Amino acid sequence: MKFNPIPDNFKIKHIINHNTYLINGELKHWNGASSKVYSTISSSDDNSPTLLGSIPLLEKDQAMEALDAASAAYDNGKGEWPTMKVIDRISCMEKFVSQMKTKRDEVVKYLMWEIGKNLQDSQKEFDRTVDYIYDTIDDYKQLDRNAAKFHKHSGVYAHIRRGPLGVVLCLGPYNYPLNETFALLIPALIMGNATIFKPAKLGVLLLTPLMEAFQNSFPSGVVNILFGRGRTLASPIMETGKIDVLALIGHSNSANALQNTHPKKNRLRIVLGLEAKNPAIVLPDADINLAVKECIAGTLSFNGQRCTALKILYIHENIFDEFKTKFCNQVDNLKFGNPWDDDVMLTPLPEVDKPAYIQNLIDDAKSKGASILNSKGGKRTHNYIYPSVLYPIDKTMNVYHEEQFGPVIPIMTFSDVQKPLDDMAESSYGQQVSVFGRDTKVLAPLIDVLVNLVCRVNLNSSCQRGPDVFPFTGRKDSAFSTLSVRDALRSFSIRTFVAAKDNSYNSDILKEMLAEKQSNFISTDYLL
Ligand code: G3H
Repeated sequence: MKFNPIPDNFKIKHIINHNTYLINGELKHWNGASSKVYSTISSSDDNSPTLLGSIPLLEKDQAMEALDAASAAYDNGKGEWPTMKVIDRISCMEKFVSQMKTKRDEVVKYLMWEIGKNLQDSQKEFDRTVDYIYDTIDDYKQLDRNAAKFHKHSGVYAHIRRGPLGVVLCLGPYNYPLNETFALLIPALIMGNATIFKPAKLGVLLLTPLMEAFQNSFPSGVVNILFGRGRTLASPIMETGKIDVLALIGHSNSANALQNTHPKKNRLRIVLGLEAKNPAIVLPDADINLAVKECIAGTLSFNGQRCTALKILYIHENIFDEFKTKFCNQVDNLKFGNPWDDDVMLTPLPEVDKPAYIQNLIDDAKSKGASILNSKGGKRTHNYIYPSVLYPIDKTMNVYHEEQFGPVIPIMTFSDVQKPLDDMAESSYGQQVSVFGRDTKVLAPLIDVLVNLVCRVNLNSSCQRGPDVFPFTGRKDSAFSTLSVRDALRSFSIRTFVAAKDNSYNSDILKEMLAEKQSNFISTDYLL
């Protein structure tokens, strides 16, 4: 396939052989094995992958060094970072984000090359992450303001704050290598934890322009950045039992394997965002044009590689014909191209084996009675498989059960809304749902059930995580803990407090500490 010429500012003019990693405040040089980073996007007409550079393949020794550095920085809660004044932690974060902002163009360029995200969405991912950091700072100030007081109950004074948990291992996903990774790392850091962070399998080089900002913004050992394979690096770290929080957005296979290797199960807190199979339910009185538009965005934004993507559509049988015609027409009109092309929605898949995986789902469904409804469905290029609208789907098919995380859209019809409700109740997942309709007498009782099956019901709109101030979580196997700007601060901290019986002896001590500002914890100062 012939692509448009690559704009000069997005061309890969030199490869990045990245050979540093951050441990204990030092950007160390790695001379050992490395792994080449390719993009499935070609720079020439021969469709060959583009070499972007390489990253270190660190080994167990470096993983242990990172763990030791993080443990020393936390120092059982005695470290500079966990005991630091709130205002000082905030100024480290502000220093980081102001440097991060200067790297926008580089990061956006590599988001496009490494994971194939289109220009607009790549810019959005960067900007949203910067906003997330500022919002986190604001919410942390609010948390601190709320805590700047003493409570008194039954003759006991209490000064209650949220304190850090310890050492956090952060592992983000390839589809949001910047945003989702930072949505774990930033709240973990600001609450006073020490961190070890390893980028996902794809979307790694885009983080390298930020290494120096991490190095010079935080005290030594507070942020440690490793490159390499999860099995080589993360597993040995977990086996030590020294990790207090596993923060992972990705697949449950990795989360389970890592959790299982931790020897102290009760010590380990987990913050997980895992698989989902969000359905759309289109009722007979739905505004079909709106439902089609939202289902296109829900199923195919970033080629369906979003945990919040709509991964199965339930269409009422009375409107199926109209929905099908309009939906397939729009799917076939979506523009496929490279991420920097104008108005492009469908872009190359970054995982080399993804087109074959999607093809297998299609073949399996077809062998069990489904057909591809749209004319372009299943057409292949070297790095893509055009979205297939598959119908009718039943429970014998793999595409019904598996989180496809790619461009294939299974459709089921229903006559009674109880059918999708039963399927959702039976499903292992429970993140979100989209429901399309108008009749409030139908919608109201339906919503009352749906909110107990998932954690976000999207009325006449596709599923999504944002805005990031809203809670992002899931029931059943889809998530553990809640993330949002505010909830993440809670997820990475614990309530801890100082209690004192109300007597003049204690009052004098507390007053003296407050007046002389001797403690960073006991403080009623307000941050504005
Ligand atoms: O991959 C899952 C993301 O959290 C989805 O976020 O809904 O903003 O695309 P989004």
